[in-house]
Amino acid sequence: MTPQKTIVHVVGARPNFMKIAPVMDAVRTEPRLRQLLVNTGQHYDQAMAGGFLTELQLPTPDRDLGVGSGTHAVQTAKVMMAFEEICLAERPDLVVVVGDVNSTMAASLVAAKLTIPIAHVEAGLRSFDRAMPEEINRIVTDRLADLLLTPSADADANLRAEGTPDEKIHLVGNVMIDTLKRHLPLARLERVADRVPVRERAYAVLTLHRPSNVDDADTFRGILQAIRHVAAAMPVVFPVHPRTRNRLREFGFDDDLRGVLLTDPLGYIDFLALTSHARVILTDSGGLQEESTALGIPCLTLRENTERPITVTEGTNRVVGTRAADIVAGFDAALHANGAVRIPALWDGRAAERVASVIRAFLLS
Ligand code: UD1
Repeated sequence: MTPQKTIVHVVGARPNFMKIAPVMDAVRTEPRLRQLLVNTGQHYDQAMAGGFLTELQLPTPDRDLGVGSGTHAVQTAKVMMAFEEICLAERPDLVVVVGDVNSTMAASLVAAKLTIPIAHVEAGLRSFDRAMPEEINRIVTDRLADLLLTPSADADANLRAEGTPDEKIHLVGNVMIDTLKRHLPLARLERVADRVPVRERAYAVLTLHRPSNVDDADTFRGILQAIRHVAAAMPVVFPVHPRTRNRLREFGFDDDLRGVLLTDPLGYIDFLALTSHARVILTDSGGLQEESTALGIPCLTLRENTERPITVTEGTNRVVGTRAADIVAGFDAALHANGAVRIPALWDGRAAERVASVIRAFLLS
């Protein structure tokens, strides 16, 4: 019998947990694969990290690196130093990384230098905007990875255009939608009624956390000006990311938020309850563009570009930028749109099974 192989999965920040959960579940059925979970601790609040591990029924991490916040270089370096020790001790046969956060790139750099193969789940996405830290993380991780597991055909095309050999690219679909489909039956609006008293399809959900939007006072002020227009039409629910909370305080924007229902960051299922019953979603998140498309809820992306163009061509997304007038025009158009939604191919709740079969073929055959 083939000896057991070891896979180390790496998570660190909020958007990682919902991607790794279905992958670990799908791999668990294979007795010849031993799985370890490493949490870098890039996010550390209960609301940003701990709650997700429990709610998504992830195993207790085998190792917590506790790196916390810091500049990009500090955070990346701390992950690298701690993760190298784990790789040297465990000598994994494969490191699995997801998404595009600093932990993703840091773990990939460590594995590549130790000649440990890397699987990147959510490979190939490109905003073509290198001012975005995640774009650097995506490019570096994809250059180093051996298995590029992509969510959509546009990602395959990006990788090919960069010269990635075909045999490394595996179109598996969107693992985040696996998690969404699994939890949707639990996501009733009553779950959040104590914090946000809203009526089904009669409110907007707003999330903002990109440094380019919230760290710049003028950009942030312009966005909030548009939000006042939205709030005049319907209640706006705004779960506030810690970075954004700090900036709101620093810039003294309280008055600009009159009529907006602010909440702390929500857990995964509570947030899904909120988004799945909304009339419209306004966001600068990457994942939420995909979730809106899967849910069929109109989404306005408050950015100049997206690494997820399929949510525009096939889904419910409009990339409206950050100028108040453009956001307002996009909001008015979204309310009157009645286009049918096509869910992108392979966003079917079974992407993690396909990830597991690629991993099995790579490690066991
Ligand atoms: C990180 C990711 C981003 C992802 C986002 C999701 C990178 C480069 N950025 O950005 O891609 O979309 O997570 O949330 O990897 N803070 C807390 N508690 C926490 C975590 C952060 O209070 O648990 C505060 C700290 O003040 C910190 C700030 O939020 O300085 C920003 O956190 P950081 O992890 O640097 O980046 P995010 O903006 O969360």
